[in-house]
Amino acid sequence: MLAVAILAAGKGTRMKTDLPKVLQQLCGRSLVERVLESAATIAPNRQLVIVGHKKEIVESALAHIPSLEFVTQSPQLGTGHAIQQLLEPLKDFTGDLVVLTGDTPLLRPETIQNLVSVHQQRQASATVLTAQLPDPTGYGRVFCNQDFVIERIIEHKDCTEPQRLNQRVSSGVYCFNWQELAIALPKLTSNNAQKEYYLTEVFDYLETVIALDAVDFEESFGINDRLQLAHAHQVIQSRTKERWMRAGVTMILPETITIDDTVELDVDVIIEPQTHLRGKTKILAGATIGPNSFITNSTIGHNCQVSYSVIEDSEIGADSKIGPFSRIRGASVVGDRCRIGNFVELKQAKVGSKTNAAHLSYLGDVTLGSQVNVGAGTITANYDGFAKHQTVIGDRTKIGSNSVLVAPIQIGDNVNIGAGSVVTKDVEANSLVIARAPQVVKPDYYDAQGKKKNPS
Ligand code: UD1
Ligand code: CA
Repeated sequence: MLAVAILAAGKGTRMKTDLPKVLQQLCGRSLVERVLESAATIAPNRQLVIVGHKKEIVESALAHIPSLEFVTQSPQLGTGHAIQQLLEPLKDFTGDLVVLTGDTPLLRPETIQNLVSVHQQRQASATVLTAQLPDPTGYGRVFCNQDFVIERIIEHKDCTEPQRLNQRVSSGVYCFNWQELAIALPKLTSNNAQKEYYLTEVFDYLETVIALDAVDFEESFGINDRLQLAHAHQVIQSRTKERWMRAGVTMILPETITIDDTVELDVDVIIEPQTHLRGKTKILAGATIGPNSFITNSTIGHNCQVSYSVIEDSEIGADSKIGPFSRIRGASVVGDRCRIGNFVELKQAKVGSKTNAAHLSYLGDVTLGSQVNVGAGTITANYDGFAKHQTVIGDRTKIGSNSVLVAPIQIGDNVNIGAGSVVTKDVEANSLVIARAPQVVKPDYYDAQGKKKNPS
């Protein structure tokens, strides 16, 4: 049997945050969600999250993850005290317990798997994931013999100066034989610099404790403050971008691009500089995104081109051209081979295929048929000060430049609306509509010098 416990009860003083530290966001997910996700790959029989500081907030932020058991630690008297809280819920448990801290989001699933298998092969009392850090400041120092058998772990604050020179640190990730740990846990004291019950003291009471160095020391970084959080962003970003480039995505100046790891990209997608892809975004094969675009929770179809644009919660069909400077939002759906151009905003718009809105428009709460042409400067007046209303426009209809369509309104197929019209009533199919003040021309009004001839 395998159980996983995640320490997430601490306050995160060094982060200087109102939000519990483990809920800080890192490329689309919180620190603790990332840890839980990595832990899921060892398919644990039980997953326990130790909560304390602002526990209601942590519990509700994790409510979407099935089969988590929350264990309360109150007050928070240290990492050892946190694990002591498991004695009751795990009293009938036999097997191994993997302990992770909620603030080590860079840990790879393979590393946890490897830790468990080395632990089980060696039949150790405990196996500690260690790392050799260029700057070990702040971490617990691991003292072991040449066979990687650990003698002691001493917290940074309790180390003497010579002990601090030891660069092998504990990553705070462990695999324990639970029965042996359960016997050792009550022995913990708080005789240390921080007057806390340290989990690392438990190694003084266990039989065989072995160190396993992480292949990539960055994985063991604990995120305690905003500088470390920024560094973790960089690490996650480079991992994500490297993965997509290996999978056939071109990135131009990748250091200027950010991609949440919830994003999906097909082969032959090209991402131009200064582009940011967020949330559940999906970009289909052959599309070019950017430069300077921001896309969140949206699907962009095959071979689309999106430049200098913002797209949120929307879908774009194949071969469409978006931008420069478009904003598409509010669950809009744009069909295939459309052109949504310069300074055009779509909100809750359903746009049929081969429809163009190329310049300077606001199209909100609207259904456009296919092959519609929306002239420059067209506005749907969808709001009467109280409620939003729908505009429906049929296939092949042409809206003249600078028209205002006052919703609710239905305009049929094959309609032609004269430029500058303010259309307030429904229009039948196949009509020509001109809804503007007629042009007044007074010939011979000025003389050749530009003076008014007839002042009346
Ligand atoms: C801890 C380890 C240190 C290791 C480092 C790796 C101890 C005593 N020290 O130090 O050896 O090198 O992690 O990152 O274990 N927490 C609780 N309850 C508490 C205190 C903390 O749940 O009473 C949680 C925190 O929310 C956090 C985790 O435990 O997720 C680690 O606590 P933190 O204070 O960050 O420990 P470090 O000083 O980093
Ligand atoms: Ca830490």
